[in-house]
Amino acid sequence: MIDISHEISREIGKGAVAAMKRFIHREKSTDSFQSHDVEVLLSRVTAISDEVTAGHLVRVRKYAILIAEQLGLGEDTQTQIYFASQLHDIGKMAIPQEILQKPGSFTRTEKVIMNTHTLLGGEMLRDYHCPYLEVAAEVALYHHERWDGTGYPYGLSGEAIPLSARIVTVCDVYDALRSRRPYKDCYSHDVALTAICDGDGWTLPEHFDPQVLAAFVKLNRWFDDIYTGGLEV
Ligand SMILES: [Fe+2]
Ligand SMILES: [Fe+2]
Repeated sequence: MIDISHEISREIGKGAVAAMKRFIHREKSTDSFQSHDVEVLLSRVTAISDEVTAGHLVRVRKYAILIAEQLGLGEDTQTQIYFASQLHDIGKMAIPQEILQKPGSFTRTEKVIMNTHTLLGGEMLRDYHCPYLEVAAEVALYHHERWDGTGYPYGLSGEAIPLSARIVTVCDVYDALRSRRPYKDCYSHDVALTAICDGDGWTLPEHFDPQVLAAFVKLNRWFDDIYTGGLEV
């Protein structure tokens, strides 16, 4: 499965990854990336995303910052997570629209193609020698890995998955559960919370870093406020 994903991502990604790398390079104001450049990049990527995706990206960033603070991470790490979380799905820009927008469930092949957004995102964001983009590349690549090893693209488990990605995973799943998707209705906050903490047959608590999950549980009401638009972070 991994080999096929790599093959497919190389095929799909050929033009799109190169185009995104050129786009990112243009945002540099000096030889290296400054935080201001990455801030501009974030707003450009959000602006070229459709409205639903843009909302998801901004909310995931807000949740991720709350968790990073709750875990007591240093200011630099929090800033890296701030940038990285909003870029986590950048690889989807290389996925064909007919798959992204498909109503109903994916075929096996479509699912494999969709899952390559992790590999493509990691590829788009690496090699800029900028700490913000290095963490962003890490998050793009690993945000669908799961603590119990059942995720993709590599099936990593536990602390082999970078903490930044483990934080974004719970934020991403919460937001996906709350949102309407072509294959599912939106869940209330309480149903999403129960799915994450107790499992619903699809999402399981074993998917998440226990430490990150505990922070999420502590902060869960704020997640609801962010989702419903009542909390600015
Ligand atoms: Fe994703
Ligand atoms: Fe996402």
